[in-house]
Amino acid sequence: MDKQTVLLRMEGIDKTFPGVKALDNAQLTLRAGTVHALMGENGAGKSTLMKCLFGIYSKDAGHIYLEGKEVNFKSSREALDNGVAMVHQELNQALKRNVMDNIWLGRYPRMKGLPLVSEKQMYADTMRVFNELDVHVDPKMVMSKMPVSQRQMVEIAKAVSFNSKVIVLDEPTSSLTEQEVEHLFRIINMLRDRGCGIIYISHKMDEILRISDEVTIMRDGQYIATKPAAELTKAEIIRLMVGREMTNQFPPKLSTASDEDILRVEHITAQYSQLSDVSFSLKKGEILGVAGLDASGRTELLENIFGAATRKSGKLFKNGQEIYNRTPKESIRNGFALVTEERRATGIFGILNIRENTVVASLKNYLKFIFLQDKQMAKGTDDMIRAMSIKTPSQKTQIRSLSGGNQQKVIFGRWILTSPDILLLDEPTRGIDVGAKYEIYQLIQNLAKEGKSVIMVSSEMPELLGVCSRILVMSGGRLAGEVDADNTSQEEIMTLAAKYV
Ligand SMILES: Nc1ncnc2c1ncn2[C@@H]1O[C@H](COP(=O)(O)OP(=O)(O)OP(=O)(O)O)[C@@H](O)[C@H]1O
Ligand SMILES: [Mg+2]
Repeated sequence: MDKQTVLLRMEGIDKTFPGVKALDNAQLTLRAGTVHALMGENGAGKSTLMKCLFGIYSKDAGHIYLEGKEVNFKSSREALDNGVAMVHQELNQALKRNVMDNIWLGRYPRMKGLPLVSEKQMYADTMRVFNELDVHVDPKMVMSKMPVSQRQMVEIAKAVSFNSKVIVLDEPTSSLTEQEVEHLFRIINMLRDRGCGIIYISHKMDEILRISDEVTIMRDGQYIATKPAAELTKAEIIRLMVGREMTNQFPPKLSTASDEDILRVEHITAQYSQLSDVSFSLKKGEILGVAGLDASGRTELLENIFGAATRKSGKLFKNGQEIYNRTPKESIRNGFALVTEERRATGIFGILNIRENTVVASLKNYLKFIFLQDKQMAKGTDDMIRAMSIKTPSQKTQIRSLSGGNQQKVIFGRWILTSPDILLLDEPTRGIDVGAKYEIYQLIQNLAKEGKSVIMVSSEMPELLGVCSRILVMSGGRLAGEVDADNTSQEEIMTLAAKYV
C-alpha cells in the first residue's frame, strides 16, 4: 500500500467529562504502512482520543474517517469488526480464564453445524497467531498465572488476530523487558510492512524516535503539531509537549547523606529467586540507586528487604538493631515503604476516590481514638495532589477516571504519606511524563533532605546518575559492585551489570 494513503483521519474532536475538558478540537491523521506516535504529558488526552475512536467514549463533536468513510463506532466490538484494534494502557482481561479464551471471547469458533465451541479449532487458531508473531505462550495457561508482560503480549496477539488495519498500542512497553520490547518492535515492523497503521502511545522518547515515522503532540486536550520523526529531537518533543523550554531534566543534586548508617543488609539470600548473598549499607538521608539488567535481582532485593518475598538467610539491622521484616506489615511498622513497579496492576482500588486511595496505607495517622479525622485526611490528600501536580478536578474523583500517569502519582503519594524512614522505590517514574518526573525527583530529594533514606531501582541509567549519590549494580542475582554516581559512567555500570550473566 502507498505510504501516502490516509487510513484514518480524526478531526475537531471534543470530549468533556464532569469538571474536565479532556479533548478540545483534537486531530490525528494516520497513513497506511506507518507508525504514528501520539505524545503528550500525563492527562493530555491521548488515551481519551483513542477511546473515542474505539467506541468506548462517544465524542461530543468532531468527525472520524476510516479509509475516507465517516465512522462512529458505538462499541469496541464494532470497532474491531471494522478493522480497528486497541491494546489498552490498563489491561482488562479475564484473569481466571485461559489465554485462548481471552483471545476469542465473544467470537469462539463453532463446531460444524453445532452450537458448540470447538476447543480444538480455538487452540489451532491461537497457535497460528502465536507462531506468526513468534510468541511463546501456552494457549491453555490461566491468565492470572502469567507475568504482566506476557499478558500484554497476549493482548497484542489478540489485536493482530482481528486482522485489523489500525492498531492502537497505549503504552505497550511499560512492563516489558528489553528483549520483549525488541520482540514487540519486530511485530510492529511486520504489521507496518503489511500496510497497517499503528498508533503508538509512549513516554519513552528513545523508543518513539526509533520506531515511529510521524509524531503527533497534544497538550491539554489540544492538537499541537504533527511532524516526521526524523525531523524531531528529544528537546524539541519536550518543548512541544510542555509548552516551554525545559533545560534541566534533573533538579540540582544536594548532598543529603549523613555519616550514620540507618540500614545494614547482611548476606541476604532469597528462598525462591536467584538473589544471593547481597550485603550493603544505607546512610541516613541517602538516595541509593540500584542498577542492573532485567532479571538481575533488583526487584527481588527490594521485596526481600520488605518481607514481600521469602528470605532464606541473611540479616537486617536498622540503626544497629536487628530487625526481621518478615511480612510487609511488620516492615511498615519498622518504618519501611515499598512502591512497586506494577503500581497500576497491583496497587489501585479503582472505584474508590483519590482521597481513599491516598490515605489507605496511612490510616493510623488519621485516627483519633476510633474516629478517622476527615479534615486531616482531606488536607493530607490536598498536599499530596499539590506536591505531585496530580491533574484532577477534585480529591473525590474516582481514581480510575484519572489518566494512567496520574494514577501512578496517587499510589506514589500514598506511600509518601505513611512517612517511612526508609523508602524503597521500584521504577518510580515509569509511565510518567518528563515534567512530572522532575517533580518526583524533587520530592525524593526533599524527603532525603528531611533525613529519610531512599533505595531506588531504575532501568533508566541517566535517572540513577542524575538523582543518586551512590549506585549498587546487580548482576545475575548478586551484587557486582558499587559506584559513586558523580565519578562513574554508563559504560562502567554496564560492564558491572554484565559481570555474572
Ligand atoms: N472516564 C473519565 N471520567 C472523568 N475524567 C476522565 C475520564 N477519562 C479521562 N478523564 C480525564 O481526561 C483527561 C485526559 O486523560 P487521558 O487518560 O486521556 O490522558 P493521557 O494523555 O492518556 O495521560 P497518561 O499519559 O497519564 O496516560 C484527564 O484529565 C483525565 O483525568
Ligand atoms: Mg493514557
